[in-house]
Amino acid sequence: MMDQAQSLRNLMSAKARALEARPQDGEHGGAKFIAVTSGKGGVGKSNFTLNFALALQRLGRRVLVFDADIGMANIDVLMGVRSQYNLSHLLSGEKEIGEIIEKGAGSLPYIAGGSGLSSLFSLSEEDLVYFTTQIQKIAADMDYILFDTGAGLSKETLQFIMSSDECIVVTTPEPTAITDAYALIKVVHGLEDTTAFKLVVNRAESQREAVQTADKIRLVTSRFLDLDIPMLGFVSDDAHVSQSVKKQVPFSINAPGCHAARDIQNLAMQYVASPDVRQEGTLSGIKGFIQKWMRRTK
Ligand SMILES: Nc1ncnc2c1ncn2[C@@H]1O[C@H](COP(=O)(O)OP(=O)(O)O)[C@@H](O)[C@H]1O
Ligand SMILES: [Mg+2]
Repeated sequence: MMDQAQSLRNLMSAKARALEARPQDGEHGGAKFIAVTSGKGGVGKSNFTLNFALALQRLGRRVLVFDADIGMANIDVLMGVRSQYNLSHLLSGEKEIGEIIEKGAGSLPYIAGGSGLSSLFSLSEEDLVYFTTQIQKIAADMDYILFDTGAGLSKETLQFIMSSDECIVVTTPEPTAITDAYALIKVVHGLEDTTAFKLVVNRAESQREAVQTADKIRLVTSRFLDLDIPMLGFVSDDAHVSQSVKKQVPFSINAPGCHAARDIQNLAMQYVASPDVRQEGTLSGIKGFIQKWMRRTK
């Protein structure tokens, strides 16, 4: 067992490393694209995405959240804001990308997908070029672009996952969430075997339960897919989350000292402190995003 002082020291040095290790751009082309998804719905993707983004922001990172859940876009509802513009204003050419980025809770920049999302997948060649150059503009000013996707295996969600540098799969300890997470990983891996997955266990009763949950998935992915998926971290099951949702304030702002908020801040610190292992020979960042997006819409 680590004593309290030791775990505090570990945390402090993780924070020091986090603040010092900035994501390298240049060769990777600026922002890192991260898709947050799940097999089963309702496991806490949107709450995770939002509060993870805020936690990264607290560590000095520039983060943009893109609400990419076609069916149930609700990042703005979770922040108690109403977005004036969404993707459709960009795609219609009415607005530039800078104008459809709104500021939510904690001044977090976000793009509401809204009704524009579905047309994103059937753009003409010309509009596709416009969309990707607009994304390119914003990617240069960001460290991370987080997509909050829908659950399951829709064509649209797959497109976001497979165009990103990394895919965070959120699950809870419930067996149904676990089997659906595995099913999702299996399908994505079958389509694109370079996708880099990470696991987050949400609503865990304890760290032990979280590790056991992740291990169940890791065991089957390594045995049947020959895939080693690291666990990024966990978030405790915490009544403050639901209370914050009702208040329409992100839990890490509404109750910064609660278990869930502390967990997500730890998780973010470890995330930025860990080395960014992007596969050699694959394009990443904005260049990779555009290339993969174009390839999949052809
Ligand atoms: N860590 C948590 N502890 C307790 N309840 C949670 C937690 N995370 C999510 N929830 C509950 O689950 C609900 C659904 O979360 P949400 O982020 O909207 O899921 P998803 O985006 O996956 O559909 C929340 O409104 C909240 O009541
Ligand atoms: Mg959601």
